[in-house]
Amino acid sequence: MIVEKIKRLAAEKKAVILAHYYQEAAIQDVADYVGDSLALARWAASTDAEAIVLCGVHFMAETAKILSPNKRVFLPDLAADCSLADSCQPTEFAAFVKRHPDHTVISYVNTSAAIKTMTDVVVTSSNARQIVDSFPPDARLIFAPDRNLGNYINSVTGRKMVLWEGACHVHERFSLEKILALKGDFPNALVLAHPECKSVILKVADYIGSTSALLNYATKSESQEFIVATESGILHEMQEKNPDKSFIPAPPNDSTCACNECSFMKLNTLEKLYDCLKNETPEIFLDTATITAAAKPILRMLELSNKLGL
Ligand code: 13P
Ligand code: SF4
Repeated sequence: MIVEKIKRLAAEKKAVILAHYYQEAAIQDVADYVGDSLALARWAASTDAEAIVLCGVHFMAETAKILSPNKRVFLPDLAADCSLADSCQPTEFAAFVKRHPDHTVISYVNTSAAIKTMTDVVVTSSNARQIVDSFPPDARLIFAPDRNLGNYINSVTGRKMVLWEGACHVHERFSLEKILALKGDFPNALVLAHPECKSVILKVADYIGSTSALLNYATKSESQEFIVATESGILHEMQEKNPDKSFIPAPPNDSTCACNECSFMKLNTLEKLYDCLKNETPEIFLDTATITAAAKPILRMLELSNKLGL
């Protein structure tokens, strides 16, 4: 069986398999650790494994390499990009930063290593609000690349961060009308939403948080039914942890596509994970200057997160 082969190969090669909640269920089941992007970064920074296989998207594997530069880091499919990270390209971003002198640059972890080299502090959806709030109220801040997360933080903190106009193709497509119709069918269901969703969706959410925050909220909640507005891969762990509760994926605008699935995340498969371990490719390579410059804002995030108890 491929699962046993993967486990045997990973043990032989002293590799740890880290997976994001958006990976297909079979990958989550075979992984050593499954978590959100903050947890993945922390595991990558602290593992004593000799190699890391990051089952997620490219920026997650890059972050692992930046935090563990002496380890080999693999991504089962090198084409597993992120539409949000792609919406922020280095040349345009450098010009944007230049147009806003005296601003502190806060970048979401969903960015390339090149963007991180131009960043003062990285955040994830687990700590973005609190890290932004750790700056003085009158601080001049740039927030990139997710305009929805940036708008959400501006609205809850009263700040006026300058936002990069990027977005995720999955989170932008949830349908308010269909979520409201589902609420009609399941009046007791709570709406859980990731802050990458548009503000119209966040307005009807009962709880807003990162993937792990949504999972913890659903697990602790007395409610039995939830409409989940984030990538549908998270439903696997929600259901595993809460077998008696019902989780309904929030529908996208277009009913002909599976748009609440991240096509990039789903490029990784068990077969590609097996091949990756066997052939030790595709591997993530970054030059030393990029690693050194990109590590600073990520390490600052990890320090701030620890200090803030996140
Ligand atoms: P998390 O930080 O919640 O893991 O989210 C990452 C992501 O890519 C959301 O689309
Ligand atoms: Fe990127 Fe969106 Fe996929 Fe998350 S769901 S990895 S933000 S494309």
